[in-house]
Amino acid sequence: MDAIALLKADHRSVEKLFKEFEAAGARASATKSKVVSAIITELSVHADIEELLFYPAASKAAAQTKPMVLESLEEHLSFKRLLADLEKMEPVDERFDAKVTVLIEQVRHHVSEEEQDLFPKVTKGLSQVRLAELGDELDKAKSAVSTRPHPNAPNTTPGKALAGLVSGAIDRARDAVEHVTP
Ligand SMILES: [Fe+2]
Ligand SMILES: [Fe+2]
Repeated sequence: MDAIALLKADHRSVEKLFKEFEAAGARASATKSKVVSAIITELSVHADIEELLFYPAASKAAAQTKPMVLESLEEHLSFKRLLADLEKMEPVDERFDAKVTVLIEQVRHHVSEEEQDLFPKVTKGLSQVRLAELGDELDKAKSAVSTRPHPNAPNTTPGKALAGLVSGAIDRARDAVEHVTP
């Protein structure tokens, strides 16, 4: 799968979770908690593979892409802060729904800018072979990067590469422990 198709598939899968959250009733705490956990994992992994591999390639793909990538990094930072807050909250918390609503607004805005502005320029600037290679690299990175938000970690290379792999390993160890704990 080429890089753009892979990232768009991730966007669709996160949007599906957003719709599930929006469809859950006000008192559907268990559903909301499960859906938000899935949102945290999917968005953390997606943001990480973009920051680690896609954005560095995108920055060099065309003359106008660098400022778009810089804006994207700021948007990631902003929604990762919300994800980090949500990680510590429960659906019964007074501000839980409000925080998820703001998260959804921010991510929808970010996704539409990527798909309408950045991705078309990257598609033009990189060869089909490079896009396919990059797609394979993104796919492989999914199983190594962080599953949690880490808003204070570096989000550009080279600091990102090392910090991401270390926190990815730690997150996966924590995920494994939490999944076996009743
Ligand atoms: Fe992004
Ligand atoms: Fe994205």
